[in-house]
Amino acid sequence: MCGIVGYVGEQQAVEVVMDGLRRLEYRGYDSAGVATRDPDGRLVVHRKAGKLVNLEKVLDADTPAGTLGIGHTRWATHGAPNDRNAHPQVDCSGAVAVVHNGTIENFEALLAGLEERGHAITSETDTEAVAHLIEERYAGDLAETVRGVCKDLTGSFVLVVTHRDAPDVVIGARRNLPLVVGLGEGENFLASDVTAFIAHTRTARVVDQDQVVELRRDGVTITDLDGNAVDGETFTVDWDTAAAEKGGYRFFMEKEIQEQPLAVRDTLGGRLGADGLLHLDELAISDEDVRGIEQVFIVACGSSYHSGLVGKYAIERWTRVPVQVEMASEFRYRDPVVGRNTLVIAVSQSGETADTLEAVRHARAQKAWVLAVTNTVGSTIARESDAALYTRCGPEVAVASTKAVIAQIVAMYLVGLYLAQLRGTRDPDEVRAHLHDLQQIPDLIAETLTRMGPIRALAGEIAEAKRVLFIGRHVGYPMALEGALKLKELAYISAEGFPAGEIKHGPIALIEPGTPVVVLATRHALSAKLVNNVQEVRARGARTIVIATDGDDSAAPYADHLVRVPDTKSLYAPLLLIVPMQVLACEVAKVLGLDVDQPRNLAKSVTVE
Ligand code: M6R
Repeated sequence: MCGIVGYVGEQQAVEVVMDGLRRLEYRGYDSAGVATRDPDGRLVVHRKAGKLVNLEKVLDADTPAGTLGIGHTRWATHGAPNDRNAHPQVDCSGAVAVVHNGTIENFEALLAGLEERGHAITSETDTEAVAHLIEERYAGDLAETVRGVCKDLTGSFVLVVTHRDAPDVVIGARRNLPLVVGLGEGENFLASDVTAFIAHTRTARVVDQDQVVELRRDGVTITDLDGNAVDGETFTVDWDTAAAEKGGYRFFMEKEIQEQPLAVRDTLGGRLGADGLLHLDELAISDEDVRGIEQVFIVACGSSYHSGLVGKYAIERWTRVPVQVEMASEFRYRDPVVGRNTLVIAVSQSGETADTLEAVRHARAQKAWVLAVTNTVGSTIARESDAALYTRCGPEVAVASTKAVIAQIVAMYLVGLYLAQLRGTRDPDEVRAHLHDLQQIPDLIAETLTRMGPIRALAGEIAEAKRVLFIGRHVGYPMALEGALKLKELAYISAEGFPAGEIKHGPIALIEPGTPVVVLATRHALSAKLVNNVQEVRARGARTIVIATDGDDSAAPYADHLVRVPDTKSLYAPLLLIVPMQVLACEVAKVLGLDVDQPRNLAKSVTVE
């Protein structure tokens, strides 16, 4: 939810920092800024509202020199997205520059005190309080000052700080939000995630809760808030810059849609043993405890919640253990009944979503087992869970999630099959057969991707619609929700997803002559009922776009537009159904001339509640 970069080294800091910010822009893009310490010892700050390109123009006209710098790309929480509220925020004297991700909950009290003590507050941000507190307390040791200030802050934050009088050092601090160190040769980096520095180094170090980093050209020191040195865990990033670049596509989303066969392959990879059964070594919960689980909660937000809904169908079918899927933002506030016999599965691409993280903390406090299903190694949700099952689909940059969702759905199937295997609710041969079927999915997704011509042809028509409805039954229902979310977030068209059987209870009133209704009509036991629902909407003037399985002609006579996906087991149909809906939303956004990768008002990683 804001991208942060810090650099100390031998290169021109502004270039390194801006390159990092470009890679982090998916985290927020309503304003940006950099601060560098120039060779004359001055702190030079540039800030600009709007996307990074606006800041680039400012820097092209006036490029600051210096080999130490910090930068920020913002998703506004406190104060409108304008130049004044952009980061870095500075103190009264211009000696301190601070970039911040998160929310400082006690900022009003802090600012009131600062104003009483004579500080001039010039922005509406919570961050500015930190700059003034550092100004007041700095006595020659910037790390010590930041440690002291952090103790007085409540809320969540990553702070990266530079001070005119501390020429060799950048300080970072974190609570609840991600911060990683990049370890280079004669240069070191701080960033919200590793994409910011993988062009320079693949060696990274995790910064943990309430820790402060002193970043210098020749070394990095990490301490707790009392100044005690701590050992950070070092890891190697196993993908390169190419994975975080567009590879010839106009948008990251287009590239990420095409990467989905590989995403599924990589998520399955190495998890199937020679015996044809599942080996989830990373599931660090004992077999005995897994057998003792009596209920499952899946907590997630947005598209990850939709993956969780698919997980419910699979886990309940294979294990007969009851599964509830909850929006993570609601979970802890209703005091759910969870305990030692409960498995909570937290699904999150970023592993940093604040709502999901708080749900994890609540579940662990109630002694539930928590399994993270995430794409981000070392993320906070992964680290705070009992175990983590990684979806290995590489970096996802587009704000609209695509390959990560497909990988999450695969991970849900793996969890379901693993529980079934371990608890003996499915015969090993049946588990083997399912795993064999899953291994065919990458080719089927690739085949689906070749059939997107009719969807692309529809984009112009959908772009003119006032609203679009998506309907499906069984696992088609979560995919209806996902199709609607994609269209909303990318094309800003009012879109709703419904269980097809539910529309007659109210939503059918939304249908006017010409309203597009996307029908997820894959073959399953409820196909005949779904066909009735299609007829019902058509009778009221809807234009139907039917996505049907090869060989299933039941809904075809009622389709104004028919799109085919390959046949597969009905439980796996989401992995194919999702593709035309992703392509549809992407194409409609393109027709409307919208920014596919960075839709308005959104950020990739939502680290505020
Ligand atoms: O990183 P997470 O999976 O926890 O993110 C959850 C949602 O914010 C995310 O899926 C969001 O809904 C996407 N923009 C959907 O495309």
